[in-house]
Amino acid sequence: MAMTNWAIWRDHSGRLSALKLAALVVLLLPGTYLLLRYAAHDLGGRPITELIHGSGDWTIRFLLATLAVTPLRAVLDWPRVVLLRRMLGVGAACYAGAHFLLYIIDQKWNLLTVASEIVLRFYLAIGFVTLLGLAALAITSTDGWQKRLRQRWKALHRLVFPLTVLALFHYFLQSKADVTNAVFAAGVFAWLGFWRLAPRRWQARMTTLLALALLAPLATALVEGAWYALATGVRASRVLMANLDPSMMRPSTEIMISAGVLLAVAAARRVAKRRPRRALAL
Ligand code: HEM
Repeated sequence: MAMTNWAIWRDHSGRLSALKLAALVVLLLPGTYLLLRYAAHDLGGRPITELIHGSGDWTIRFLLATLAVTPLRAVLDWPRVVLLRRMLGVGAACYAGAHFLLYIIDQKWNLLTVASEIVLRFYLAIGFVTLLGLAALAITSTDGWQKRLRQRWKALHRLVFPLTVLALFHYFLQSKADVTNAVFAAGVFAWLGFWRLAPRRWQARMTTLLALALLAPLATALVEGAWYALATGVRASRVLMANLDPSMMRPSTEIMISAGVLLAVAAARRVAKRRPRRALAL
């Protein structure tokens, strides 16, 4: 039993799962790559800063991947992907923990400085609250906690949405002049949020995916325009005009392309699933 609990590459029935094993490798790869580059002195003049940035980036990516599991199950009719949700969520929390640890190392283990910086700097305070929240979700993600908390477990784990908003805010605030990557992450979150707002019976429809491929880029462009207007004083209309120029390749364009690719994959899977049934009917 204990073996099944800790052997996270196995599914519920205790069988080796290639999907979970692949996800575990994907989770370990970025951290390993960053550490190897650190060991090879390949991270420039401020290697710890690079590690802080790298670990922060991967925390956000795995967090968004965790939120994408339910939509992918419905849209791609892929039930087994659910096996990955807990793993990705705990993985994101581990990267967040490493990110914090690296910050402490950067502050030469001076915990008093760490604490005062967190209290004094708004973006660090937000990061800290997010980290505490992600840690709480990771700890209570086990079957035992799920049974113990029953209905309250679901309510608790829905906190992942406001925590992702906080994580994105932390990302924007620390990005300084160029928020391109943060805007792209916000665009992915917008797609995921719109998908959840759609009525359940519409969530797997192609028309819904088409609407999302238009709505999510629009929201991305608006977030980018609003951020530049509020944080830098650049006119929102200028940013929105840049978003209308495909050669500028703003994050909204990338979100539209990504949503379009997902739409195409979903359509292809539907066609592939229908074909054998037709063949049987003939
Ligand atoms: C106590 C908690 C945290 C602290 C002290 C912290 C600290 C930092 C610091 C110092 C930076 C770099 C800022 C700079 O170079 O000026 C950073 C960047 C970042 N952090 Fe955090 N952070 C915390 C929690 C989090 C959490 C929970 C997440 C995600 C869920 C996160 C995601 C990021 C991201 C995405 C970046 C930007 C990386 C990049 O630009 O490449 N952080 N954080």
